[in-house]
Amino acid sequence: MPDHILVAVAWPYANGPRHLGHVAGFGVPSDVFARYHRLRGNRVLMVSGTDEHGAPITYGADSEGISAQEFADRNNEIIVKELQALGLAYDIFTRTTTCNHERVVQDLFRRLYEAGYIKPQTVLGAFSPSTGRTLPDRYVEGTCPICGFPEARGDQCDNCGNQLDATDLINPRSRLNGEVPEFKQAEHFYFELPAFAEELERWVGRQTHWRPNVRNFTLRLLEDLKPRPITRDLDWGVPIPLPGWQERPDKRIYVWFDAVMGYLSASIEWAHNRGTPETWQEWWRNPAARGYYFMGKDNITFHTVMWPAILLGVGDLNLPYDVVSTEFLTLEGKQFSTSRRHVIEVSDFLSRYDPDPLRYYLISAGPETSDSDFTWAEFLRRNNDELVGTWGNLVHRTLVNAQRNFGGVPEPGQLSERDQRVLNEVEAGFDSVAELLEAARFKAALVEAMRLAALVNQYLGEEQPWHTLKSDQRRAATTLFVAVRCVDSLKTLLTPFLPFTCQRLHELLGYEDVLAPQPQLSEQLEQCGRSHLVLGGGAGYEEQDRWQPSRIESGRRLPVPQPLFKKLEPKIVAAELTRLAGGD
Ligand code: MF3
Ligand code: ZN
Repeated sequence: MPDHILVAVAWPYANGPRHLGHVAGFGVPSDVFARYHRLRGNRVLMVSGTDEHGAPITYGADSEGISAQEFADRNNEIIVKELQALGLAYDIFTRTTTCNHERVVQDLFRRLYEAGYIKPQTVLGAFSPSTGRTLPDRYVEGTCPICGFPEARGDQCDNCGNQLDATDLINPRSRLNGEVPEFKQAEHFYFELPAFAEELERWVGRQTHWRPNVRNFTLRLLEDLKPRPITRDLDWGVPIPLPGWQERPDKRIYVWFDAVMGYLSASIEWAHNRGTPETWQEWWRNPAARGYYFMGKDNITFHTVMWPAILLGVGDLNLPYDVVSTEFLTLEGKQFSTSRRHVIEVSDFLSRYDPDPLRYYLISAGPETSDSDFTWAEFLRRNNDELVGTWGNLVHRTLVNAQRNFGGVPEPGQLSERDQRVLNEVEAGFDSVAELLEAARFKAALVEAMRLAALVNQYLGEEQPWHTLKSDQRRAATTLFVAVRCVDSLKTLLTPFLPFTCQRLHELLGYEDVLAPQPQLSEQLEQCGRSHLVLGGGAGYEEQDRWQPSRIESGRRLPVPQPLFKKLEPKIVAAELTRLAGGD
């Protein structure tokens, strides 16, 4: 029986292009995981979208003088294309500004409210004395009470990253006209997190398969849970679905409260779009289904406390099975910073280099369990030594010798013990790599697959079929047959990591079907009459039982081989460092 695997990927803010740090966190690891499970024959539903509400969006829109919707539309399109170019094979990558999302969020809000888990509370809110209107949190500016930064906003401090309340600011003033805001009592809604503290604690206590940092961090958070405000003084977001509130232009649901619900709303949208409106339940109501959530470490609390509490409050939806969080990636020893232009955007990177070498780097040298650094020198070294030197070289030597001398997969003679041994070693990879991938240990899984590639390279080096060709054709044919089978098996093991080149290799091995599906873009029309871009779905998405050793047969004709990877010139390092410093 295939398993149902929900791959829930953190929703990037639609506030600008994504950089390498973003896709190292939520992006590539989740795609590796989803691709593996599809190859294995499991039923994968991989969902995400752009996170388009909240301060990051309104702030960006204000600073460019355009509407939040225009700003989000533009960035959604940019992000969707970047993720597609990187080969992230979502089943659905949608947006939080869809009618479907609003309906699902409002429905969950209402159910929690009716169950008594959402309660009104009177708190101080900022008003403009000159207009008498509420002053949205982001328009209040002052000194951060935590780090002393003089230009913190009423929703968060850009210097220390802490979330703030406008009332916390020292010397508050209006960013619109400089006046000192008045603080008056106003009603907001609070989510009763303490009601779930015990149940959450018992649940997290059982999650011994989580990464220790995620579990320990969460257990600490659970020691001190407070009701959390889930509405904001804001004019952009999902309206509060209660009488007297729904129409108010100045109150919205807190962005995080709506964004985490996107995992569910996107699943529902996916099922609707494919004409099977109930099938989302196979991942959400089936007790055997497992949900894996992927994100950077700054997102942990929302996925291990807030979202599970919502799910417990609603009562009939699955809790996460695993919360896979990554640490941070730095760039040449310093934090990524879009404002200081110390950044490499995904699309910029992919305009000069191929996606698979980037995916390879972000898994093998990425921040899986500790912070890590992207450097151009290390990117060059890994590309040239590992992708070109080990794996590419093995593929090339094997295919060129087989194709040139035999026109395809040679007819083997009797297999020697040495032949059998290398075949067995590669075959064992279908268990060892799988086990690591299932445990979300992507780096170790890739190292294991590459170790096997190196073993086959060593085998070829010892057997030297290009020499035995002249003295013992039969022996050369046998060696090359064994090598082709090993390469074909390694292709499957590496497909989750290197989907573009493994698909090409699949074709160089004479197959005609889709091994590594790539997501497609389409425009989806909703019942409410609006349409939006969706990334996801295409040929080859359906689960197939492919996670098995090669059975490629002798006699198959092979096309003329082409190299899979490009060797990079050492001079690109200096050129890229100059570009990074702003010198191009
Ligand atoms: N937009 C958030 C970020 O980029 C992540 C949201 S994840 C979600 O940090 F689950 F809330 F959608
Ligand atoms: Zn601060």
